[in-house]
Amino acid sequence: MSALTLSSSSAATLRADAVVVGVAKNSAGKKASLVLAPGAEAVDKAYGGKLAATLETLGASGGEGEVTKLPAPASGVKAPLVVAVGLGTAARKDEAYDAETLRRAAGAAARALAGTKKAAFALPVVDADAVAAVAEGALLGAYAFTAYKGKTDGAKGGKDAKDAPLAEIALVGAKARDKAHKAAADRALVVAEEVHRARDLINTPANGLDPKAFAAEAKAAAKEYGLSVEVLDEKALAKGGYGGILGVGGGSAQPPRLVRIGWSHPKAKQSLALVGKGITYDSGGISLKPAGHNETMKCDMSGAAAVFSAVVAAARLGLQANVTGWLALAENMPSGSATRPGDVLTMYSGKTVEVLNTDAEGRLVLADALTRAGEEEPDAIVDVATLTGAMVLALGNRTFGIMANDDEFRGAVHEVAEEVGEDAWPMPMPAHLRKGMDSPVADIANMGERMGGGLVAGLFLKEFVPEGTPWAHLDIAGPAFNESAPFGYTPKGGTGSAVRTLVRLAERAAEGELG
Ligand code: BES
Ligand code: MN
Ligand code: ZN
Repeated sequence: MSALTLSSSSAATLRADAVVVGVAKNSAGKKASLVLAPGAEAVDKAYGGKLAATLETLGASGGEGEVTKLPAPASGVKAPLVVAVGLGTAARKDEAYDAETLRRAAGAAARALAGTKKAAFALPVVDADAVAAVAEGALLGAYAFTAYKGKTDGAKGGKDAKDAPLAEIALVGAKARDKAHKAAADRALVVAEEVHRARDLINTPANGLDPKAFAAEAKAAAKEYGLSVEVLDEKALAKGGYGGILGVGGGSAQPPRLVRIGWSHPKAKQSLALVGKGITYDSGGISLKPAGHNETMKCDMSGAAAVFSAVVAAARLGLQANVTGWLALAENMPSGSATRPGDVLTMYSGKTVEVLNTDAEGRLVLADALTRAGEEEPDAIVDVATLTGAMVLALGNRTFGIMANDDEFRGAVHEVAEEVGEDAWPMPMPAHLRKGMDSPVADIANMGERMGGGLVAGLFLKEFVPEGTPWAHLDIAGPAFNESAPFGYTPKGGTGSAVRTLVRLAERAAEGELG
C-alpha cells in the first residue's frame, strides 16, 4: 500500500519525482480553452504563467481522465516531472470540483505514475471532503496485483519495477494540523486498504483461494483487528441443515464454508448484517458454462470479498455499530457428487428448492446465509452478489442494481452509493415474476422467467429474508470485475465494487441513521 502524507510545503518546493496538477476545459467561454485548477499556481509560476498554454500546445483538452506529462522547467519546481490531469469542465469560481471528479482524476494520475516513487498531488483541496476524495482516488489508483508475477527483474521482490504502484502520495494544500483534514486522510487510507483487500481476493485465482483459504483469511484479519469469527465447515453445515450451501459446494473437492465475522461496539447505535456471495469459482456445475463464459469466474466471490473488507473497515474505523459479515463460500463444480438439475434441496430455512439450473447457484448459498443472518434480528440486511448476467445486460459494466423489500431503504442505499462515488441504480421486484418460480415438486424453483432474470433472482432471495427486516440486494455482476482497460481509479480485474457503499452504510448505522 502506498504511503499517504499531508504536506504543508508548496508543490514547487516539495521533494518528489512528480507533481500532479489539474487542468480543465474553460467553461466561461473566453479565449483560452484550458484553465488550471486551483492548486497549480506555484507550478504555473515556474513556467512563467504559461502552463495552460503549454498544455494546449501539447494537445491537452482538459477532458476527464486525460493525462499529459511534461518536463518541469529548469528551475522553480523541485520535481523533474509535471503531470496534468483532466478534470472535465472547469468548476465556476465560487464552486468546488465534485468529489468523484477529483477521485477519478487523482486515480488516473496515480495510475499514470506507476513505477514512480513519490508524487505531490497539487489538486484543488478546498475542504476536508476534497482531501478525502483526492487521497482516496490516488490510493485506489495506486494498485497492482503481482502475487503471481515471476521474477522478471529480480530487484524488488521480483516484480517489474515499472509496474509497481506509486509508493508515496503527498497531498499539497491539505493541512496536517487541521483535524478534519487529518481525519479525512486517515479514513481514506483505511477505505483504500480495504478496497485493495477485496481486489486482491478477487484477483487471486480459484486454485489459490478456495472456501477454506478464504475462511482462513477471515480468521487472520479477525485476529489482527479484534473481530469475532466463526467458521462452519462442511460437517457443521450438514449438522445445521444448510442445504443450499452444501448443495452448491457438493460437486467440488474443496468443501464449502459459512463464515460469520463480526465487529461489535459496546456503544453500538444500530446493527447491520452484510451477506456476501462467495463462489470461489463458478463453472456452472452440471449446467456447465460454455467456454467464453467461465474465464473470469474466479470473480464470483466478489460479494463476499466486499462484505469481508467492509466489516474489517468498520472495525479499523472503530464504528459505534454492530456490523456482521456472512460469507457464503463454495466452489460450484460438476462431478459425481454435484447437485443435478432436477434435484430438490432442503434449505436452512426449511423451504425446499428444485434446482432447475445449477448455474443459478448464488441465490442458493445466499438464501441460507440470509436466513441465518436474519435470526440475529439486525436493524437491516444488505447482500452483495455477482448474481446475474441479466443485470449486466440491463445496467452495463459500471453500475450495480439495487433491489429491496422496502422502497425507503432502497433509496437510502442508493443515496449512500452515490455519496461515495459508486454508480448504482434502483431496480424493481415485480411480484408477478414470482409465479415463474413455482415448482411442481418443491416450494420454489431456483429459476424463473428468463426476461428480467436479475429481478427474478431478487425475488428468490426475498423469500429467505425475515418479514419486517429492511433488506437490500446489490447485484454487482457488472462492476465487480473490469475486463476492459483501467479508468479513473479502477484497475483491470477485481475492482472492489460495493466496499465503499457498505462502509458508508456501516457509518450510517453508527450514526443511528440506517434507512
Ligand atoms: N455468477 C453468475 C453471474 C455472472 C455473470 C457474474 C456474469 C458475473 C458476470 C451466476 O451464478 C449465473 O451463472 N447466473 C445465471 C443465472 C441463470 C442460470 C438463471 C445467469 O445470469 O445466466
Ligand atoms: Mn452461476
Ligand atoms: Zn455465480
